[in-house]
Amino acid sequence: MNTSIHSQWSSKLAFIFAATGSAVGLGNIWKFPYMTGEYGGGAFVIVYLLCVALMGLPIMMAEVMLGKRGRNSPINSMKILAAEAKQSQWWQLLGWSGVVAGILILSFYSVVAGWALAYVPKLATGEFLIINSMPLAEVQTFIDATFNSLVANPYNLIIWHTIFMSLTMLIILGGVQGGLERALTFMMPALFVLLLILVAYAMTTSNFMDGVHFMFDINFNNLLYPNCTATSCELSGDGILAAMGQAFFSLSLGMGAIMVYGAYLPDKTSIAQTTAIVVIADTLVAILAGLISFAIVFSNGLEPGAGVSLVFKTLPIAFGQMPFGSLFGTLFFILLALAAWSSAISLIEPAVAWLIETKRFKRLGATLFLGILTWLLGLLTVFSFNIWSEINPLFMFPNFADKTFFDLIDYLTSSIMLPLGGLFMAIFVAWLMKKQIIEAELNGSSKHFGYRIWYFLLRYITPLGVGLVFLNAIGIFS
Ligand code: PHE
Repeated sequence: MNTSIHSQWSSKLAFIFAATGSAVGLGNIWKFPYMTGEYGGGAFVIVYLLCVALMGLPIMMAEVMLGKRGRNSPINSMKILAAEAKQSQWWQLLGWSGVVAGILILSFYSVVAGWALAYVPKLATGEFLIINSMPLAEVQTFIDATFNSLVANPYNLIIWHTIFMSLTMLIILGGVQGGLERALTFMMPALFVLLLILVAYAMTTSNFMDGVHFMFDINFNNLLYPNCTATSCELSGDGILAAMGQAFFSLSLGMGAIMVYGAYLPDKTSIAQTTAIVVIADTLVAILAGLISFAIVFSNGLEPGAGVSLVFKTLPIAFGQMPFGSLFGTLFFILLALAAWSSAISLIEPAVAWLIETKRFKRLGATLFLGILTWLLGLLTVFSFNIWSEINPLFMFPNFADKTFFDLIDYLTSSIMLPLGGLFMAIFVAWLMKKQIIEAELNGSSKHFGYRIWYFLLRYITPLGVGLVFLNAIGIFS
């Protein structure tokens, strides 16, 4: 057993809430629907689900276990575990890449969470009730204008981004266990109930089944040829890479968030059972959010491929039309911001824990330093939607020529850093760690059927899968 200066979760349930809090967030409610829309529906969803089952679940178990064994920040845990397995100290890089990815993700995450905060007063004051008396075409113009005028104003975005980052820093200051445990116990169930209310509403809309078909009818052309125009279609691995990246992003995998939460896990907790609960909850929330969004899309003649604005354009229509819409709408965006909040904390905790372990920092100093750094980086995203929306830093590379700073940070982290991080975790656990250690940490045995499946997936299928998706994305197979 390795020693730790950090405290632990008070119970198994506290860990489940924290890990679910990390996993469920903007990734499920904002990102999953709009990516499904952009990549044409069912085929994206099926690849996503396959990645969750064949890579996500096994890697999450491995990542929790690395944390529980290492008992420190991802950087120091990897240092300790590499020494224990007589491997190179370069394995610390895995922790480092996670720290960097976490800060980069949080920089745009906080801006988008700011959008959710900005919608709270809009709903509370009944701004969307007016759509009841509008013809369909005007409804679309109205919701477009509402979203566009929000993101067009950098000052507004900066204010909401600042509020969200301050809230995140506040919890981090209190220590994740103390600050987070209580809040999450009522938050996650409340969010779930509201989602169910929205699903019930979605089922009453005229085109609910169109949304279901869009999400579950599998048409691989949409995924493999995402950039089709009237004149040309080009085969591309981007869609599959995006689906895999989304699986890692949504489950918070590959950057140490789940590892650092594992480091606070009480000794006797069953890793297999707890991670399975987290994965199922996360997937369920994403699917529900998709069903809700697409029912509204197809019932109101909207575009499924609207991009990052999708849920901010669909959900207000629902809240404008349903009974008690202003109340539910206000609650929903508050809960969305809270869900983002509990994810944000896990994005920055690996870095904070590491700075504290180096002992040159107290929690306050570490939080302030990292918070301000992330806030500054967030300005790149803020400006990507207004004054720098035409700036494409990688314009000289055809594949990235039209990407803004925000697009690039999102791509670098979700599609590259997280899957790579997960790949190396899988390799470390399934190829380099001693089997006795793994069995002891998992309270498992190599004779157990589930354990054998997990080990097989982690050792062969996960690395092969991630590798193939990467090779496909750089065009090796086309
Ligand atoms: N899983 C979170 C979400 O879906 C985002 C996240 C990614 C959090 C990586 C931590 C680590 O919103």
